[in-house]
Amino acid sequence: MRRWASTAAVRLGLLGLCLGSGWRAQAAESEPDSSLRVLAERAGLTLGVAVDTPVLNGDPAHAALAARHFHVLTPENALKWGHVEWQQGRRDTRAFEAIAAFAAANSQGLRGHALVWDREIPAWLSRDDPRVFDAALADHLQATMSDHRDLIEVWDVVNEALGPDGHRAPSSLVEVLGPSYLETAFLRARAEAPQARLFYNDYAVLWPGPKADGLVRLVKALQQAHVPIDGVGLQSHLHLVPEGRLDWPGIRAHLRRLGALGVEIHLSEVDVRVADLAGADQGRLLAQADAVYRLVSVCRLEPACTHVAFWGVSDRYSWIDTAIGPDDPLLWDEQAAPKPAYFAVQDALLGRPWRGCTTNISGVGPSLETVTTTGGRLRRSLESSQAEVVVTDRTASWHGPQVDVRAWLSEGLTFRLSAEVQTAEGMPLQWTLRVVDGGGTRFLKVTETVATGAWQSLEGLLQVDLQPPVETVHAYVEGPNAGHDLALRSVSATVACAPSEATSP
Ligand code: G3I
Repeated sequence: MRRWASTAAVRLGLLGLCLGSGWRAQAAESEPDSSLRVLAERAGLTLGVAVDTPVLNGDPAHAALAARHFHVLTPENALKWGHVEWQQGRRDTRAFEAIAAFAAANSQGLRGHALVWDREIPAWLSRDDPRVFDAALADHLQATMSDHRDLIEVWDVVNEALGPDGHRAPSSLVEVLGPSYLETAFLRARAEAPQARLFYNDYAVLWPGPKADGLVRLVKALQQAHVPIDGVGLQSHLHLVPEGRLDWPGIRAHLRRLGALGVEIHLSEVDVRVADLAGADQGRLLAQADAVYRLVSVCRLEPACTHVAFWGVSDRYSWIDTAIGPDDPLLWDEQAAPKPAYFAVQDALLGRPWRGCTTNISGVGPSLETVTTTGGRLRRSLESSQAEVVVTDRTASWHGPQVDVRAWLSEGLTFRLSAEVQTAEGMPLQWTLRVVDGGGTRFLKVTETVATGAWQSLEGLLQVDLQPPVETVHAYVEGPNAGHDLALRSVSATVACAPSEATSP
């Protein structure tokens, strides 16, 4: 069993000392062939993924991705108390053993998840007698850690103990044992595995807010009480709709604040829900990739953040489909093909701008064949080897060339739309968006300028609130008085990436 590279050493730039020559040989591979884990090592990070035994055993494509791209496997369910002791008096570790064998065969480490969690208390265990309950919990912790002491160097000791207000959430653990069960669990874990790194793991503690503040208070309180805690797992189940646009500078400041307490940070359960983003599939996947890019970049840039783990390999198997509804939250699609989010991880690990910011997604090619007009007559021509469309016979100022942008617009992202246009000097020029959706028909001004008479760039930022059902969304150039021709010779759209707070040191 290969141990994880010491993440502290990795972050200190001592990677070469930790990894064998095989790793360096892989790192020299050409980039398109490089696995994510090779790129992660260059960035000083380790990458993990959650796996479940039936999927690893039953889907070779999925297993191959898990083996190739990740340093560490997190058993998604196989080590949870309710799974191991689903029968009273008998520990069933077969599911975990299968994952451990897979990890050993692929030189991967294992992340222990999750020793103490209110949701995974065996159904047969009575809550009536606190002493019996506590003894069972202590036995579970002792047996699980001692069984796997040589295999597992990081444990989520306690999972999801905080409420949305940052205080301890009500739970049967609190009800039966009192809130100190948490401190007791860490003390027992340290006694059982003195070399292991002990983590507290929770959701909705990635971004600033009362729960994130509660996490900081918890870490400080544990440290002051000399209760051993080495790290925090920030689960990073992202849902771009209710959280709105995530506060990336705030997230980075929060990671820095945690790092200043001396704890290691793992982004322990990354997935990004996109199913209910208003917009089109292409746009949704770009919004997801944008979030993944920023998340991995933040971790790469904050020294205390050492590990990013995705909560599943491909969209074919995600807890979200079962627990919430059909979605596509991961890096590979149902056919195990890489999604934009996969390439965003590559870009983030390489520390270069996300390619979504430079790739033209307008759907308008150089020959402009998809450009139509809102009125007048559309004439296509090829001037000095560059295609051009001219709208002539305009009888209203709003007649002009238009493009269908519905295929790529999405909530949660801003796009930069630009075109090269020409009309008579002094005429107004404007990009307008016409949206026909559940909210009716709306016209939105994207940008405006005054014509110079020469070819000029008309560029604006698109950020739209679409309301289902979305019927049509067109962007068109308008403005010149009727009778003036309006010409266009290129259109492009890219994701508008902020001069990135998340990517600059
Ligand atoms: O294995 C049984 C199967 O035999 C049975 O037929 C089936 C019927 O419901 O259930 C199967 O077990 C389910 C298991 O997932 C495997 O699919 C459980 O009911 C179900 O509760 C369990 O859900 C897991 C959940 O944690 C609760 O433990 C999810 O897979 C897992 O992804 C999810 O992971 C959690 C992290 O541990 C903590 N953070 C949040 C994250 C998402 O909820």
